[in-house]
Amino acid sequence: ASTLGEAAAQTGRYFGAAVAANHLGESQYVTVLDREFTSVTPENEMKWDATEPSRGSFNFGNADRIVNHAQSRGMKIRGHTLVWHSQLPGWVSGLPSANDVRSAMNNHINQVMGHYRGKIHSWDVVNEAFEDGGSGARRQSVFQQRLGDGYIEEAFRTARAADPNAKLCYNDYNIDDANAAKTRAVYNMVRDFKARGVPIDCVGLQSHFNAQSPVPSNYQQNIEQFAALGVDVQITELDIEGSGSAQADNYRRVVQACLAVSRCTGITVWGIPDHYSWRASGTPLLFDSNYNKKPAYNAVLAAL
Ligand code: XIL
Repeated sequence: ASTLGEAAAQTGRYFGAAVAANHLGESQYVTVLDREFTSVTPENEMKWDATEPSRGSFNFGNADRIVNHAQSRGMKIRGHTLVWHSQLPGWVSGLPSANDVRSAMNNHINQVMGHYRGKIHSWDVVNEAFEDGGSGARRQSVFQQRLGDGYIEEAFRTARAADPNAKLCYNDYNIDDANAAKTRAVYNMVRDFKARGVPIDCVGLQSHFNAQSPVPSNYQQNIEQFAALGVDVQITELDIEGSGSAQADNYRRVVQACLAVSRCTGITVWGIPDHYSWRASGTPLLFDSNYNKKPAYNAVLAAL
């Protein structure tokens, strides 16, 4: 295989990238996107502040541009994301009652998933609902504060009804180390959901790695443990700080870990060339800012 998408397809997986609508007019960007990738995730365009900036008023223009581009080229689309504390318009946290927050959350899920029904292979239904550090506690978002622990389950039940054919994922960062308290908390939630029949199909490991947060030595074991609960695992926002052969080695380890687990069904990198990374400084992606393939690219291609 000579592209990431073809190589991943040899084992039935997709290889995706986060895409920004405002780059779809750039020929180099689109050339590499169309050549290499078989899945896209809108980087910001499906978030709450983009799709429902004021209550009940929905805007799908930029997300539709990405979806149309992907569909016309036969790429899969990951939906990102429905319920998240960040990039959340102020009107949600300003709602007067718990019932308002509940109906706003469910309406948002219904409207956004309904708009894209049948077009999205996996949705990040809830994103980043747990605290960092050793507590294993829920993050104190507006949803948690107003609705309590049950909001995550409610979001997944609403999502299943809104698009029964989409895989429903819980997505987070710093849940890559099997032994971390945050990972254990997410693991316990997923196990509980599976035991009680709450609809969940996948766990998304964002997998943003750097010197402070390196690829854990038990990364493959962690994927195996989530998969053993009866959910797929997707690596959803991969980027790894560094350069040269050290960065390439880390990317290789991530790809090898995913390929070793049959329920690890796809990998998405969080951007295409380094200069469009959300990491303002650094070079965490597979292509340099001239769209040249980096050593990390070659390592990924060889490992797939
Ligand atoms: C980031 C985008 O890449 C940036 O463009 C934006 O300014 C902030 O959000 N976790 C997530 C993603 O789930 O949505 C975030 O994306 C990166 C961290």
